[in-house]
Amino acid sequence: MQAPNTSGRAAWFALLGFLLAFPCMAGAIYLYIRYGNPPVATADHPFPDEKTIVHIPLHARIHRDLVTPPTTPEAHDLVAGAQVYVEHCAICHGSPHLDSSFGKWEYPTSPQLWRKHKDGVVGVSDDAPNVSYWKVENGIRLTGMPSFQHILSNDQMWQVSFLVAQADHPLSPQISAIFDAADTRRRQDEGLPTTASGVHPTP
Ligand code: HEC
Repeated sequence: MQAPNTSGRAAWFALLGFLLAFPCMAGAIYLYIRYGNPPVATADHPFPDEKTIVHIPLHARIHRDLVTPPTTPEAHDLVAGAQVYVEHCAICHGSPHLDSSFGKWEYPTSPQLWRKHKDGVVGVSDDAPNVSYWKVENGIRLTGMPSFQHILSNDQMWQVSFLVAQADHPLSPQISAIFDAADTRRRQDEGLPTTASGVHPTP
């Protein structure tokens, strides 16, 4: 007769412990957020595996929503893409010869889309244009990446997405001229030396 009572009591304690665990966890989370100094400044250390955790759902969502490009890009699309880029993107993502001044101080940083990464890939040239199109159209939550669907037309979003997908290709003279003129304006606006050549800030 003893055994069922003991195991019955144990079950009640287990249930009680289980139920108490939730308020305790909620309390601990509240205390951590309120007093634990979680990362809020751009220079703070990230949570462990923060980047991976944030990017898994993003990748899943993008791959679920992917649309086929309406056309294959022609030279005039890339020129139009460069015009969109210097007007709306270069301030954060830099240009082939002039990095963004503040992109690297954002959190997360604005990737410099004309820079070679450690693995040799330039910008997002390893992403298909429709992957970048999703990001341009929808933006990326809790980062500085805006959604451009109310700012640019669909054609413009495709044109700029085709352009960044070809960041590893040599620039045509017409596109180089668009970047050079925009870099000159940006140097003037930001008080950078106008005669300097190469990338700013010096890598
Ligand atoms: C205000 C700054 C800002 C502007 C303007 C901006 N972006 Fe971004 N963009 C970001 C940030 C920050 C990220 C990084 C998001 C992340 O880490 O997930 C990003 C991410 C991206 C990515 C994904 C990069 C990668 O490595 O996967 C692409 C592609 C992109 N932006 C394209 C553009 C294009 C094209 C424009 C212009 C039409 C633009 N962005 C304008 C801040 C900006």
